[in-house]
Amino acid sequence: MTKPATARVDQLLSSMGYGSRKDMARMAKAGGISLDGGDLLDVSQRIAITPDLPRRMQIDGAALDPVAGLVILLHKPLGMTCSHKEQGPLVYDILPDRWRRRDPAISTIGRLDKQTSGLLLLTDDGALLHRVISPKRHVKKTYRAKLDRPLSGQEAALFAAGELLLEGEDKPLAPAKLEVISDTEALLHVTEGRYHQVRRMFAATGNHVVSLHREALGGLALPETLAPGQWKLLDAEEIASIFL
Ligand code: URA
Repeated sequence: MTKPATARVDQLLSSMGYGSRKDMARMAKAGGISLDGGDLLDVSQRIAITPDLPRRMQIDGAALDPVAGLVILLHKPLGMTCSHKEQGPLVYDILPDRWRRRDPAISTIGRLDKQTSGLLLLTDDGALLHRVISPKRHVKKTYRAKLDRPLSGQEAALFAAGELLLEGEDKPLAPAKLEVISDTEALLHVTEGRYHQVRRMFAATGNHVVSLHREALGGLALPETLAPGQWKLLDAEEIASIFL
């Protein structure tokens, strides 16, 4: 069995966004850090990073955040941008403030437009991020699109053919599956993540998307119980379901 990695307590907590190393020393002195039910006073001590650490360590009375491999499922509301830098409301504003200071940083797995709602994943796990967005994996994304005009009836065949060229591009889109819900509403399953892809696909048919919502990513669906702006951490089984 390989030994778990260890880290200095102050370095670990600082990399998790709880504050500077000095802040951690101050917090410990004030009794704000506990381990196995007792005060942890010496933040220069090394600690084994084991999966049960969030159950054993408390910061200001609350369980320690997961140390690494954080995967967050957010019900992205309309009007928020998937960016660390842009002006205006950002999806990161929804998460605990300290999570912006984590190292490695938390990033969105792919992006949704400002005016798209639905399932958005965020993680500090770079390898997972690449696995989900890699074109080789063909992870299916399911979108519910509401349209300005009635469907013509030609769209499903056009999207399924794998020959549709989006404006300004020279590589056709991979085949995508359309499920018609009504004259002006459809589910679209795509395996790529090109810029404004769904809106541009319908634009190529002379239509216009008036609302767009992502319902699922691979085998992982947005839970109905999660309202816009709410989020939850995913467990290993839920993460695996992305690739089903
Ligand atoms: N396609 C779009 O056009 N927008 C999104 O946000 C996602 C897919």
